[in-house]
Formats: sequence, C-alpha cells, structure tokens
Amino acid sequence: MRDRRMPLPARSRCDAQRRVRVQFLKNAWYMAAWSQDLGVGKLLSRTIIEVPVVLYRSNDGVAHALMDRCPHRFAPLSRGELNDRGIACGYHGLEFDHDGVCIRNPHPSGKIPKRAHVNAYPVVERDTIAWIWMGDRDPDEDLIPDYSILTKSNGVTRRDYLLMDASFDLIVDNLLDCSHTSFLHKGVLGTEGMIAAPTRIEQTGDTLNVIRTIGNVEPPAMLDMQYKQNGEPVDTWTDFRWDVPSSLLLDVGVTEPDAPRERGTGYFGVHILTPETTTTTHYHTSAARWNIRPGSETEEVRDLIADMRKFAFEEEDEPMIQAQQRVITLTGASEGDQVMLETDIGIVRWRRIMDRLLHEEDTAHA
Ligand code: FES
Ligand SMILES: [Fe+2]
Repeated sequence: MRDRRMPLPARSRCDAQRRVRVQFLKNAWYMAAWSQDLGVGKLLSRTIIEVPVVLYRSNDGVAHALMDRCPHRFAPLSRGELNDRGIACGYHGLEFDHDGVCIRNPHPSGKIPKRAHVNAYPVVERDTIAWIWMGDRDPDEDLIPDYSILTKSNGVTRRDYLLMDASFDLIVDNLLDCSHTSFLHKGVLGTEGMIAAPTRIEQTGDTLNVIRTIGNVEPPAMLDMQYKQNGEPVDTWTDFRWDVPSSLLLDVGVTEPDAPRERGTGYFGVHILTPETTTTTHYHTSAARWNIRPGSETEEVRDLIADMRKFAFEEEDEPMIQAQQRVITLTGASEGDQVMLETDIGIVRWRRIMDRLLHEEDTAHA
C-alpha cells in the first residue's frame, strides 16, 4: 500500500492534473449575453472561455465584440469611451473601430503602429440572444442552436443571468441527469415516483436529447402550481436537448394520466452556459410556458416560476456542484474513476462528442 505521505511520481501527478483539466472548444457559438443587456452606449465586459471581451451596441443598433485588451499597455477597453466610430481607450486615448482596427493616435506624431490592432469576434443576435464565435475558423450561423421558442411563447419568464462558481462541464452533467431532481429539488422539481422513470437518449448529428417519461405519479410542485393545483397523479416528462458546447433546452410538462401532452401544460427551460474560466460559468436562464392555464397567466406566477427556478439553481445545484468540485480537486479523481449508473447515458454521450470535437480542433491546430 502506498505511504499516504509519499508524493506521487511526477508523471502520475501530471496525468492526474491533465485528466481533471477543463478544456474549451473555440470553434463554437457561445451565448455572450441576452440582447436586452446590450444597450447602445454601454460597454459590457465579459470573460468568455478565459478571453476578456468587451461587448457593445453601436448607434445603428448592431452588436459588436472586441477583445477587452488595448494593444498599447493592455488596459481593458471596457474602461474607455464609446463613440460613433468605435472605442477610445480610457488610458492613453488610442481609438479602435468595430473591427478592432486602430483608427486614431491622439499623440503628437499621430502615427498608428502596425500592431495596434484588437481581435474582433463575430456576433449574431437571434431569438433575443447575442451569440459570439471565439474560434479561428469561419463562423457557421447554421450551428446556432434554436431558441425560437423565446419569441413564440406568450409566457416567457424573466431572462435571468447568474454567475456560477462551478465549471461548465459539471453543470452540463447536472442538467443532463435529471434523476437528481427527485433528491436535490425534492418535491419541487422532482418527486419520488419520478425516480422510476427510465432514461433514454436520441442523437441527431451532434445534438442530443436525454428523455425521461413516466406515468401516473405525484406531480412536482413547480408544475402542479401551473396545472391543477391539487396534487393528483399526472404523466410527466423531461426532455433535455444539448447542443455543442453547452447550450441546453428542457422540454418539461405534465398531463392527466394517459391524456395527450397537448391537454396538459409545461414550459421550455432555457439553460445556456458560457464558460468564464475553468471554475466559473455564465448561466443564462428563462422559461417559455405553453398551454398556460387560466389563473396562472399572471405576472405574479411568471415571477414566482423565475424565482423558484433561480432558487433551485443557486441554492441547491450550485452548492452541490461546488462541493463535488472540491472533492474532485482534493482527491485528483478522474472521469474514469467514476461509478456509472443507467441515468448517466446522456453525460457519457455529451462528453464523448466534446472529446471528439476537441481532438479535431487540436489536430487542426497541430
Ligand atoms: S493602454 Fe490603451 S492607449 Fe494606452
Ligand atoms: Fe438541478
């Protein structure tokens, strides 16, 4: 048996670190912000996959993104001033246009050094979301995940933003294994009867759906509140769609036992994760309701749904994921050390897809 005080041989230590390292895919669409948070005349600083980015909307309403780093002394451009042509750095006044080209040196020579250039990132606004492309390949807009439900539903709850102290991959794991709702969000998002729901997956291209359906069980409070408010048994389902790299959409609902889904009610839960660093994640969330029952269409109920969801993510999921992260870091545990359950099929699959895409990206770079 190994002496616990004995340090691991250098190679094993290195391997252990490598195995728990979080890697980011660059050639992918990440949610930069809700469109509503990009105001004209406002500079929004946001770190995305460890790159500091400044986002803003020019006077013509177009959204832009530049690296938040002036090439002169590396001051963040988000501390500068926005004008008609672009951003003037707040430190010594160099000005950059929306493409990151330096267009003015206010100092005596007025000379613009060749390397005075800032990276610009493509931004596309769709479905009330501003998407950013951080890679070096040409962006493909067809890869932007579909969140048109946010513009179609007449019952969209608050568009929330949380900064989570947890790595994005553990949050994806959390979402793609909905069996945790019966334990961690006991009664509210999951009930005891729902534990028996089998988990299956469907894959179309690189898009996954992790599906759990069960009949004749006690409804979770969140849905009962939007349905009959009597606790009577229902058929219920969760269908989590995952798109590369970390954009998720949950189709969840209830209906009377053996009745078609359209007779029930539910919502599409938006969960779009953007890694900030290896240990922190921008979490964008909202819910688009359908078949809203009379009496539950009020602003009050809409806010209550948003508050209940936010509470579950911030006060129940986040502390658990943080605690899990601490144990992983402390013990140097790797993915291969984990015991797998039948509920983990979605987790295995999304990680497999990401491993392939990361490998392809590494190979292309090499
Ligand atoms: S740091 Fe921006 S002009 Fe000097
Ligand atoms: Fe959860």
